[in-house]
Amino acid sequence: MKEKRPFPPTLQLIFHLLAWLPLLWLLWSYWQDALGLNFVRTITLRTGKAALIFLLLSLTVTPLYLLFGWKWVYRYRRPLGLYAFLYAALHLLTFVGLDYGFDWALVGDAMRNNRYTQVGLTAFLILLPLALTSTQRSRAWLGPKWWKRLHRLSYLAAIIAILHYALLVRQYFTQPITFGVILAVLLGTRLFMALVKKRYALG
Ligand code: HEM
Repeated sequence: MKEKRPFPPTLQLIFHLLAWLPLLWLLWSYWQDALGLNFVRTITLRTGKAALIFLLLSLTVTPLYLLFGWKWVYRYRRPLGLYAFLYAALHLLTFVGLDYGFDWALVGDAMRNNRYTQVGLTAFLILLPLALTSTQRSRAWLGPKWWKRLHRLSYLAAIIAILHYALLVRQYFTQPITFGVILAVLLGTRLFMALVKKRYALG
């Protein structure tokens, strides 16, 4: 039987180092006193951006496989998704802890009064079960069909996260629009390839 080639540990190390980089950069900026006057806002913005980027990177895996047949990229899907969740959790923790001092009444008010926090919370609540069921054991427990269905919600989480971003910018829409276009390309590639596969299966 052909043996599965072990993945180069150096590549794994580089990948994980890059993934921790946004957090290390934050800690470094804090150490250097370079987070600016409104440091809570800086942390919120940076962790939010990191969460969105990792979420989109995790959604890049399947289109890459479908287009180029690179099966090895699947090794990165789970860690990318988990890093997205980690940064989203830090983002939420910054909001609740640093911004609102864990004053749950104030947090509740902010959630009720701001559309973008409601939308952000929705994205987070979608990511939560995906992170919790990312293990092989959960996959076996749910069955591959239901697991796949559940994990397709990551596209919905990304759409809602971009909406959350768009709702809070007042002038510079370039960034949320760019993220939206990237997501549309990823989703479009998946749908297009699914259609092509169906057509070939029928023909
Ligand atoms: C309960 C959940 C969430 C809350 C309360 C929340 C709250 C916030 C707040 C207060 C800001 C900064 C607004 C400002 O000062 O301009 C922000 C920005 C942002 N958030 Fe969230 N957020 C949540 C969930 C998420 C999630 C799940 C993601 C992504 C997966 C996300 C991505 C972003 C992005 C990309 C930004 C803008 C970053 C930038 O402008 O550079 N947020 N969020």
